[in-house]
Amino acid sequence: MSLLEVRGLSKDFGGPRRTQALAEVSLAIGAGETLGLIGPSGCGKTTLARALTRLVAVDAGAVRFDGLDWLALSGRSLRRARGRMQMVFQDPAAAFHPRATAGGAIGEALRIHGLGTRRDRAERVAALLAQVGLSPDLAAQPVATLSGGQRQRVAIARSIAPGPRLVVLDEAVSALDASVRARVLDLLVRLQEDLGLAYLFVGHDLAVVRAVSHRIAVMDAGRIVETGPAERLVAAPKADLTRALIAAVPRLERGASA
Ligand SMILES: Nc1ncnc2c1ncn2[C@@H]1O[C@H](COP(=O)(O)OP(=O)(O)OP(=O)(O)O)[C@@H](O)[C@H]1O
Ligand SMILES: [Mg+2]
Repeated sequence: MSLLEVRGLSKDFGGPRRTQALAEVSLAIGAGETLGLIGPSGCGKTTLARALTRLVAVDAGAVRFDGLDWLALSGRSLRRARGRMQMVFQDPAAAFHPRATAGGAIGEALRIHGLGTRRDRAERVAALLAQVGLSPDLAAQPVATLSGGQRQRVAIARSIAPGPRLVVLDEAVSALDASVRARVLDLLVRLQEDLGLAYLFVGHDLAVVRAVSHRIAVMDAGRIVETGPAERLVAAPKADLTRALIAAVPRLERGASA
């Protein structure tokens, strides 16, 4: 059975256009697997990410995650279970308290999830910083003074702090320069291998999404229009939108690796 099973997730924010941000979205992610999610701006990727992480309430649908009726959890049971599914956002600056230090942000995540005593939290923070390739000396440094890549590494450290089984990465590397992005992607792949993490990897660049995903789901106007193994989807796309996304990345059409 899959780690995550999403059935018929729907969300309408209302408003004059009455567009459905999510229209009966169904998908599954296995333990240790990366599902890439790609589609045009406004198609509902972030809404899906936020619905899964319980930041946005849906109108209909069901989510089975890690053996739990995920959308039925509330209050204390939800707070207890939240550590199993974590999220990393695109904008590292907005994701932190303006005056947070790197160590403070990670330590706070440990505290919220009831992990560690106050005394051993500093040690855990240092270990987590090392795990994402940062010097433990950075613990005292304000997140605001770090580089974009360092900030995103801190965000990743914070996301793995409670020991999740799934991390939702919403455009987590999209704001980074190509060389920094490549190193953060390497880190994500290594963490996946070391920790057995599953990822929902949201992106808009098919070359990047293909490079890290086992399977890819293509989304358009709130619907999943195609899902398949990454290689197959790029080599033999079925949906018009998938073909258009491939055409937008010339080096993929030529069959070169990303
Ligand atoms: N809080 C909200 N209130 C009202 N409408 C919203 C809200 N959040 C998202 N929407 C609408 O839902 C639709 C999907 O938005 P969403 O942010 O999920 O798209 P996206 O695929 O993540 O886009 P992008 O690639 O630009 O990040 C859009 O029409 C958007 O305007
Ligand atoms: Mg988005």
